[in-house]
Amino acid sequence: MERDVIIACDFESRERTVEFLSLFPENEKPFVKIGMELFYAAGPDIVRELKDRGHKIFLDLKLHDIPNTVKKTMRVLSGLGADMCNLHAAGTRAMMEAALEGLTRPDGTRPKLIAVTMLTSTDQAALERDLWITGRPIGEVVLHYAETARDAGLDGVVCSPLEARSVHGRCGAEFLAVTPGVRFAGGDTEDQKRVATPAAARDMGSDYIVVGRPITAAPDPVEAYRRCVKEFV
Ligand code: C5P
Repeated sequence: MERDVIIACDFESRERTVEFLSLFPENEKPFVKIGMELFYAAGPDIVRELKDRGHKIFLDLKLHDIPNTVKKTMRVLSGLGADMCNLHAAGTRAMMEAALEGLTRPDGTRPKLIAVTMLTSTDQAALERDLWITGRPIGEVVLHYAETARDAGLDGVVCSPLEARSVHGRCGAEFLAVTPGVRFAGGDTEDQKRVATPAAARDMGSDYIVVGRPITAAPDPVEAYRRCVKEFV
């Protein structure tokens, strides 16, 4: 079991990101998440730079395209030194298999590959009205997508801590549940609807928690990060 806390670096620039990470002492290098905003603003150099500074990196770019394009793009991301990448399971099993091929480096190593099942912003009404997936509860659709990801050889899915147990139940204990939506007890939930504390996320089976504002917007981010690690790991 390799539980860890991943800090979502949802910043608008390289400078702001480096300034934030410089709060941490030299011997403490948190696992960080780079999302679309920062990646598109700062470019691929931000991945190389944070790797060089000693951080592990989850590159949250949620790829979804034809298999050949995803394969070639994953090859680039893997070459940047990412430790974890993701894509949309909706791109199909063929796309996920191609992604794994692209990620695998000449020495046989590769970043972990995680699937987004259904975005948590999609509700049952949108599932039926916009995506035309009818006659099934969204929870079942999520588990089916997770199973397809597992069958394609992926390492896990992004899901709510509240879904981690059912994902493990359907896909196996080794299949990773990477979970955002984490808040300290009594903390502001902001726009997150279904939240869990780090300790509850651990008890429900999360393997990695992705935590943004409770750490980045805390008066003392280093203290907040350490509190998260203490509660979760
Ligand atoms: O600030 P907060 O802790 O809410 O940040 C959570 C991070 O996880 C953000 O980067 C957000 O985009 C991401 N995320 C999420 N819910 C999902 C998928 C990703 O909150 N379903």
